[in-house]
Amino acid sequence: DTTPEIRKGLAGVVVDTTAISKVNPATNSLLYRGYPVQELAEHCSVEEVALLLWTGELPTPDELAAFEAEERAGRALAPQVRDAITRAPLTAHPMDVVRTAISVHGEIDPDTADASPEADLRKAKRLFAAVPAMVALDQRRRHGLDEIAPREDLDYSANLLWMTFGTELTEAEIDVFRVSMVLYAEHSFNASTFTARVVTSTMSDLHSAVVAAVGALKGPLHGGANEAVMHMFDEIGDASAAVAWLDEALASKRKIMGFGHRVYKNGDSRVPTMKAALDRLIAERGRDDLLALYDTLGDAMAERKGILPNLDYPSGPAYHLLGFDTPTFTPLFVASRVMGWTAHIMEQAAANALIRPLSAYDGPEQRHVPQAVSV
Ligand code: CMC
Repeated sequence: DTTPEIRKGLAGVVVDTTAISKVNPATNSLLYRGYPVQELAEHCSVEEVALLLWTGELPTPDELAAFEAEERAGRALAPQVRDAITRAPLTAHPMDVVRTAISVHGEIDPDTADASPEADLRKAKRLFAAVPAMVALDQRRRHGLDEIAPREDLDYSANLLWMTFGTELTEAEIDVFRVSMVLYAEHSFNASTFTARVVTSTMSDLHSAVVAAVGALKGPLHGGANEAVMHMFDEIGDASAAVAWLDEALASKRKIMGFGHRVYKNGDSRVPTMKAALDRLIAERGRDDLLALYDTLGDAMAERKGILPNLDYPSGPAYHLLGFDTPTFTPLFVASRVMGWTAHIMEQAAANALIRPLSAYDGPEQRHVPQAVSV
């Protein structure tokens, strides 16, 4: 038998090595450069995690201060990027807008023609600094609101929230957001990261790889799930309707958004940390109704199918409570995952092999074009 073994969706296929993160479903753990993500979520700023992912080490205080100064100075949008956002039709999904904005940002990056590792790191840092303003401006203009300038006295998380809402959120709220950004930053060879590595493997440029990754993240089986979770909650209404809704959805073979994972089959390692953050927000806002819906649906899904929530299940409602519009949730995922994508792009470029798998042809046997009939 010459039929090659086909692993649909590359399920279980190990494609390459990486030193960036380790997902271990058996122990339900996720390490970024060796550090448990729970510890990073408890102790580190988003800026520290970015440097860790890019360089392999947590920064010294001096390194961190230097990067923070650089990042804060690089937050404002270039006019071309601002125009690309404000001219986008309101019918465009925010993921399409951030995808285009990143593409324009790449065109005018001062290092655009330089593919050296040093230039790629500079590009990664500039992109990381600029994405929050893209996401914030897009949400604001959809409400007819003016752009808010970045604030250099605020860290990454507080500033992203400031540019979106123009009000100071509480320390607790900012912390919930920071936790989500740390948890979303990196997850080995997920679909969007793998996409970025495929593009990089052709020796294309960093921004092309990130734009492609944004496209991969948009889909509801991947990053689009955090948005889809909130639409689902809106559709269900409240906890009393959750079980009946679920039974009907499962009977019609619907995928329940925010549940299941290709790698984790016994629960997503990031969920307890994000759920604890969501719980703090729910308590602060007195939204027991949302908690009841969350728990009722989660319990019923575990009971009916034995399938557990993934990170998008708690992060969707958390972003909702912070005040983000539902279609902005996946662009927030971009703001974070851009750290992981760019780390993988640099790792791929440093030890490159063109990614070009094979396929097994199952179309028609060789045949011939019918002779043209002469009149
Ligand atoms: N709802 C209903 N059934 C499910 C779900 C779900 N969310 N997830 C898995 N199943 C069922 C699936 O139908 C299949 O059943 P059967 O064997 O009877 O056909 C079985 O569980 C195995 O699932 P699978 O689709 O073969 O597993 P996969 O590894 O291909 O899928 C997944 C992983 C994430 C695509 C899938 O669980 C899913 O579609 N989940 C909903 C979308 C989602 O929440 N995505 C976010 C993923 S994690 C974070 C991120 O990337 O943002």
